[in-house]
Amino acid sequence: MKSFYITTAIDYVNGAPHLGHAYEKVLTDVIARFRRQMGDRVHFLTGADEHGQKVQASARQRGIPAQRYVDETSAEFRALYDRLNVSYDDFIRTTEPRHKQVVQVLLQQLFDAGEIYQAEYRGFYSTRQEQFLQEKDRLPDGAWPELFGEVTEIVETNYFFRLKKHQAWLVDFLTQNEDFIFPRFRQKQVLEFLKDPLNDLCISRPRERLEWGIELPFDKNYVTYVWFDALLNYYSAVVDKGLWPADYNLIGKDILVPPHAVYWPIMLKACGLPPPKHLLVHGWWLQSGAKMSKSTGGAVNPLDLVTEFGVDAFRYFVMREMNVGQDSEFTREQFLVRYNSELANNLGNLVNRTLNMTTRFAAGVLPAAEVIEDAEREVQALWTRTRDEVIPLCEGFQFHTALERTMAFVNATNAYIEKRAPWKLGKSVDPKDAALLRTSLATMAEALRLAVALMQHVVPATTAKINSVLGYTPGADWRAELEWGSKLTGAKVDEALVLFPRPAPPPKTPAKA
Ligand code: ME8
Ligand code: MG
Repeated sequence: MKSFYITTAIDYVNGAPHLGHAYEKVLTDVIARFRRQMGDRVHFLTGADEHGQKVQASARQRGIPAQRYVDETSAEFRALYDRLNVSYDDFIRTTEPRHKQVVQVLLQQLFDAGEIYQAEYRGFYSTRQEQFLQEKDRLPDGAWPELFGEVTEIVETNYFFRLKKHQAWLVDFLTQNEDFIFPRFRQKQVLEFLKDPLNDLCISRPRERLEWGIELPFDKNYVTYVWFDALLNYYSAVVDKGLWPADYNLIGKDILVPPHAVYWPIMLKACGLPPPKHLLVHGWWLQSGAKMSKSTGGAVNPLDLVTEFGVDAFRYFVMREMNVGQDSEFTREQFLVRYNSELANNLGNLVNRTLNMTTRFAAGVLPAAEVIEDAEREVQALWTRTRDEVIPLCEGFQFHTALERTMAFVNATNAYIEKRAPWKLGKSVDPKDAALLRTSLATMAEALRLAVALMQHVVPATTAKINSVLGYTPGADWRAELEWGSKLTGAKVDEALVLFPRPAPPPKTPAKA
């Protein structure tokens, strides 16, 4: 069994989670479930980034101790991921002793090896991104980009990690490992960034300015810079499991350069550890063209969508809508379009017809297919093509296209039903028509079983529900489940299932006078 270790970014728990956080965890979950189905031994890590200035500031604003604050907010993020059926194996919090110990051991090791030194720091800091800025980060007019929020100038003595000395190694590593970052065009951006000389990284904050962090093991007047602490979660969580390096560190594009593409591989290198095998970088959910964010307000609360439409409608939408690596505008209208046309209509109709007609014409027991004609051969051939296309698409993270193809197969099955018109066959006294009727019931049910098996990693609860109403228990070998056959013959189906009820139409905007 191949082992597969995948991680998400760990969220700053300084506010409520929004669509962007939920998307990232669902995307990682879909990959984790897919790899499990393909037979890998998966370890899936997510968690919370609980230190830093942002968190300290939010706790102070609420007037409660930082630890109590993160206990509460962290639980809120975790509850959301549980609600979304995110099948993580471990949830790490950076305030846990198991993490702090590893960070301190590595810091001491780097200090002893001369990779960390003390010097005066003078520069600019973005609290929103918890990031040190450079002159080249300014816009042409001298202002700081919106993404950084409020920027403050800092002058103080601090500890620095020697990044510069490893720059040539990193460029070499990236040049030799062209598929380190997915999508590939991002790797070119990193190499572009590395054309300028790197500054060493300030990795400490004096305790007077920031107390909410991990104490430096070699100087108790300082705490560790939050990124240096947070990145190590991917390693600290598996240090006793022997799982490092990760197959994928999955992150959003705002935290690629410099934290994940520059600091992270160099930190590992300096510690004598291998880099992750890959970084998988997703794009942003946008609202009116701007990144949805905790700090700017008005962000979409994923729980609202889940409450209104169900977990799988949410999971389906984000996976169907977003091309992994690109950005996507969120609108409720677009959500409704996909919900209605793809889930309620296309898939919902196939489920309804299969259950209704099997109940009506076969007393609820699925018959065997008897007469295989061109119509049936076409559905089966389309199934084989769909499956053989969808699996490689999922291996390459093209879930939006995979779902589009799968839904096209569902659509073709609905067209097959129209063509066979079982409701007409049911009225005929011709035995040939009776055989065709039984064949059509078997064919639609088998097509439905296969289509939902192929979407199982995206909509696991829906797949389970449909299997259950089809009176079917799938076997453990997922790929064997994807063969067209007669697994459902003799199964007793339920009479009805409302999977995706039609929502009430949106209120009409009053016409202008
Ligand atoms: O950056 N669309 O935490 P975070 C898509 N703690 N993804 C989005 C998004 C959006 N509108 N907004 C945020 C941090 N994200 C650090 C990570 S990892 C060692 C430390 C993504 O809460 C973002 O890109 O600001 C990141 O991957 C994740 O949500 C957490 O963002
Ligand atoms: Mg952020």
